Amino acid sequence: MIMAGIVAGGSGSRMGGDLPKQFLELEKRPILVYTMERFLSSGYIDAVIVGINPIYKEHMDYLIKKYFAGNKNVYAVEGGADRNATIRNIVSSAEKQLHLSEDDIIITHDAVRPFVTNKMISDSINALEHCQICTAAVPMTDTVVYSENGITADQFPDRSQLRSVQTPQTFRLASFKEVYGSIDTAELQKATDVCSLYQRKGYEVCLIDGNSLNIKITYPCDYELAKLIARDFDN
Ligand code: CTP
Repeated sequence: MIMAGIVAGGSGSRMGGDLPKQFLELEKRPILVYTMERFLSSGYIDAVIVGINPIYKEHMDYLIKKYFAGNKNVYAVEGGADRNATIRNIVSSAEKQLHLSEDDIIITHDAVRPFVTNKMISDSINALEHCQICTAAVPMTDTVVYSENGITADQFPDRSQLRSVQTPQTFRLASFKEVYGSIDTAELQKATDVCSLYQRKGYEVCLIDGNSLNIKITYPCDYELAKLIARDFDN
């Protein structure tokens, strides 16, 4: 089985507004519904589980009924205090409710990256033939500076070797259980993504091609850009 875990438990504080950004509309439906549809229409995915803040559970159940009626393999679970905790809740629910086996594939993705492509999804799945975890990434376009005090520059790393990390991030149940079982809460809270946890545990993290349209809607200007991209988005 190949399952998509859509993380949608954030508060969107940088975006502002009354409703978390994943519920704002894109092409007449909530952004997170748009993203879930991308996975379901790819033809690679057997189930979609979305992790949300429990205060939106009722609203999410309504959205699932409205947009995915009849599909028992699409459902919502309670997210966690941070992104990794949301992923952990999604995976543990999938293990119980969908009876995932150790070899089954979990493809995790930010709800607020609606422009994931079929190619990214299939590349992620195929990459697991030769590695335990992979992430979408793109070459940096800006020069990056390392600064300890935030006032002066300490180092200018070689841009040609830098990538910006996106999602999907994909792994099998067995390795996830091993990594998460051996990590303490402090380490878990510090890491912003699953790949960095795998890397800390000695796993090789493979990179697949993301792309520059696979934006994470973070600020109001990203939302404006997303509305423009969506007008012409053609997988
Ligand atoms: N996310 C999550 N659970 C959390 C925090 C974040 O599932 N406890 C999800 C978000 O909903 C989003 C993705 O992780 O789809 C990327 O998070 P990001 O946009 O960086 O975080 P937010 O908390 O939503 O936004 P902000 O940092 O601006 O508050």
